[in-house]
Amino acid sequence: MNKKITKICCIGAGYVGGPTMAVIAQKCPHIKVTVVDLNEARIAAWNDPNTENIPVYEPGLSEVVAEARGRNLFFSTEVDKAIDEAEMIFISVNTPTKTYGTGKGMAADLKYIELCARQIARVAKDDKIVVEKSTLPVRTAEAVKNILQNTGNGVNYQILSNPEFLAEGTAVEDLHAPDRVLIGGDTTPEGQEALNALVEVYANWVPRERILTTNLWSSELSKLTANAFLAQRVSSINALSELCERTGADVTEVARSIGTDSRIGPKFLKASVGFGGSCFQKDILNLVYIARSYGLKEVADYWEQVIIMNDHQKSRFANNIVKTLYNTVSGKKIAFLGWAFKKDTNDTRESAAIYVADALLNEEAGIAVYDPKVPESQVFFDLDYLGTRSADKNKQLVTNYTDPYEACKDAHAIAILTEWDEFKTYDWQRIFDNMKKPAFLFDGRSIVDSAALTDIGFKVYTIGK
Ligand code: NAD
Ligand code: UGA
Repeated sequence: MNKKITKICCIGAGYVGGPTMAVIAQKCPHIKVTVVDLNEARIAAWNDPNTENIPVYEPGLSEVVAEARGRNLFFSTEVDKAIDEAEMIFISVNTPTKTYGTGKGMAADLKYIELCARQIARVAKDDKIVVEKSTLPVRTAEAVKNILQNTGNGVNYQILSNPEFLAEGTAVEDLHAPDRVLIGGDTTPEGQEALNALVEVYANWVPRERILTTNLWSSELSKLTANAFLAQRVSSINALSELCERTGADVTEVARSIGTDSRIGPKFLKASVGFGGSCFQKDILNLVYIARSYGLKEVADYWEQVIIMNDHQKSRFANNIVKTLYNTVSGKKIAFLGWAFKKDTNDTRESAAIYVADALLNEEAGIAVYDPKVPESQVFFDLDYLGTRSADKNKQLVTNYTDPYEACKDAHAIAILTEWDEFKTYDWQRIFDNMKKPAFLFDGRSIVDSAALTDIGFKVYTIGK
């Protein structure tokens, strides 16, 4: 007889913990779901009476939260209490790239994971199923198990790996109808029982044939592999975009031509200014680090090239702006349309915009930023975090706008960094009329109609054309 879960706790109320648990609560009204976090401001925002103010912007998410919050979905800072009550505990904390010590700049920093494991070990009084939701290096479950099983308080733990595959901007859609849910567990009878308990949770709305089960290590490694493959496709098409620009081929046409081959498929072939987001880079660096630590030089070098290509794409976009603007952008206003790493999210982590801006700021450009969802404070946080120049200097050179037409007024050039749909619908004639001439437009997302804009008078540069 499988254990039926009625109380879930999730540690970490971020971009994964928040949406994932909101959907579990929505689809499983019989399960009490408590999401906890140390960050009081974040929890307060999740509890904001107006669900439009929740800290993660995702289409459809505020509606899901409005439906379940207060019924069987709760957000709290009382971590110990939630751990104590729950039968199943998801760990969904951040696992950023290490910024110190061994593996600095490459390995995943697992200190938050270890803190969670120690906290669970300290608090738990009855048996728990602990679920790794965060993306983790292969064999992390071993360390988590070690910490949990050496407490000597008689509590039995089962560790499961249940990596998350949602993409930001489509999180609710992805969670409602996932391509697959992956669950890894121990092959022992107790491990299988725990695994089945989690299968039963998802089976409330996910067809069973889409719930894949496997062992712990395959599950952990599958997550890093999935992100590496996805990012590799973007770097592959971006590499070709540069060749297209030199040869007169059009990368959109090349992508369409190869994408119709069912073995290749049409998705993730959009050339861009470079991929961003909190995970692709960190997960590939982690994969490279793991391969190197096993002495697999060729494997490590192979995957590292995906990052090298991505860095190249961002810097060549910035260099092209400087070169085209007669080799100097000093004192010139350059309007940035978009700061988020992709459309339909307010997340800016590792956004290409940050690195393109940094390169142009090194050339003393003045940057005017407009993004429909990113606040001014985040733009300055991102630039200051790089530490390239003082915060005062960033404030001096960068201005944020809430009106795109104002952002573009008197600009020498516009750079499109994010593919927000609204950019397609602007009155481009009006924008052109108010710009310095020649009016340059660098489309890093291939979203505007370059022929129509050229007719207006813009000098348009599109990635891969
Ligand atoms: P995030 O930074 O948005 O959220 C993590 C949260 O954990 C933060 O609010 C932080 O305060 C909290 N936290 C950290 N340590 C804690 C502790 N000891 N106790 C309580 N709270 C604690 O991160 P995220 O984007 O949600 O990512 C979480 C994990 O999920 C990462 O491993 C990431 O790789 C993975 N992932 C992310 C995505 C995505 O789209 N962002 C998708 C799939 C997987
Ligand atoms: C990605 C994966 O798609 C998710 O499956 C995974 O769960 C998640 O990482 C994670 O582990 O964090 P996400 O980063 O949210 O999701 O968004 P993506 O849609 O994958 O886009 C990543 C970056 O690649 C964005 O900057 C996007 O603009 C860029 N991209 C994507 C392209 O430049 N071209 C494409 O064709 C696709």
